Amino acid sequence: MRNTIVVTGGAGFIGSNFILQRMQEKTAPIINLDKLTYAGNLRNLGSVAEDRGYEFVRGDIAERALVRRVLETRLPGAIVHFAAESHVDRSIRGPEDFIRTNVDGTFVLLEEVRAYWSSLSADEQKRFRFLHVSTDEVYGSLGPDDPPFCETTPYAPNSPYAASKAASDHLVRAYHHTYGLPTLTTNCSNNYGRFQFPEKLIPLMILNARDGKSLPVYGDGKNVRDWLHVEDHCDAISKVLQGGRPGEVYNIGGWNEKRNLEIVETVCELVDEMAPRLPRPRHDLITFVKDRPGHDRRYAMDARKIERELGWKPKETFETGIRKTVRWYLENDEWVRGVTSGSYRQWIETHYSS
Ligand code: NAD
Ligand code: DAU
Repeated sequence: MRNTIVVTGGAGFIGSNFILQRMQEKTAPIINLDKLTYAGNLRNLGSVAEDRGYEFVRGDIAERALVRRVLETRLPGAIVHFAAESHVDRSIRGPEDFIRTNVDGTFVLLEEVRAYWSSLSADEQKRFRFLHVSTDEVYGSLGPDDPPFCETTPYAPNSPYAASKAASDHLVRAYHHTYGLPTLTTNCSNNYGRFQFPEKLIPLMILNARDGKSLPVYGDGKNVRDWLHVEDHCDAISKVLQGGRPGEVYNIGGWNEKRNLEIVETVCELVDEMAPRLPRPRHDLITFVKDRPGHDRRYAMDARKIERELGWKPKETFETGIRKTVRWYLENDEWVRGVTSGSYRQWIETHYSS
């Protein structure tokens, strides 16, 4: 066994930020196993593509033989599992891919990792880690005065996406409990930052505001999310990988609850400031549209366990993080053009026209 890390879904938003952060530290070689769905983008990793410590393998986590080959030939000491279908609205329109990747794919990965792990020496087995990246959405929805979700909050997933992630969390738990696989699970709140696919709230609003298009806010815009800068999330994952206790769950959040409308208004102000002015303030582009079915009202994370046990706290404030993020999208038009072609436009037309 080597200290190599196999990262699944490393060409996506959080996975690519994680790989870039780890490559700066140069502590362990990285194998990026990614299927390259619409959400995967190798341009995110252009700066490390030729590095000796980085390798890309195109492949599906649900393909047993391929996963086995990767494990047997690269002999990793850890798996960091990001690969997933991740967009709630897509899961409502078509849940099947979510079950296939998030549930079946995680199951195949766990089975193959279990076989590989069983072949290691006792000392290697002890050092090995399987870190599963999950979400706050598995806990369901909070009322306005409820305390934030903690690691013992009962699961109550409400969308097909959340249900598929909850199922994968349960499988990971069972593989630790039954087989002793040294697993770690992280459940994180909403991330924002560079490389996020612009189907998600913040990048969608930045690009629509830039172009003077309408800004579709679901329902009354009062749903609350707890926003965390993606680099803080990646840092938290590294801390859990390094010092987390096998079999444990760590909640990660930004202590930064905001209503969607507040987020969109902030984006409007920043785009007005940084992009060429439109005849009217971008705020006027805000349009309330039909709500997301089953839309969770409020998420909030109690991240005291990871702070207490591993000394992790978010470093970026929302004010600085959102400013950097808006600037990044405005300054990286080539990246934006690369991801907003054919199939993206089709999704936007289908989803927002109905
Ligand atoms: P993303 O949609 O941007 O990226 C997903 C990546 O997984 C893509 O590169 C895609 O090509 C790859 N992938 C999809 N199916 C695959 C398969 N079958 N085999 C191999 N690769 C496959 O997602 P993200 O926003 O970066 O989220 C990453 C993980 O973090 C997910 O597990 C998600 O549930 C979790 N998460 C996301 C957030 C968030 O705010 N984005 C918050 C908490 C947790
Ligand atoms: O909470 C963590 C989760 O955050 C992750 O597990 C998911 O992978 C990630 O996609 C994200 O899920 P959300 O559904 O919270 O993110 P999204 O950006 O799709 O929406 C954020 C909020 O904004 C939500 O309340 C819905 C609302 N929204 C979203 C879009 C795309 C709008 O009002 N209008 C929109 O056009």
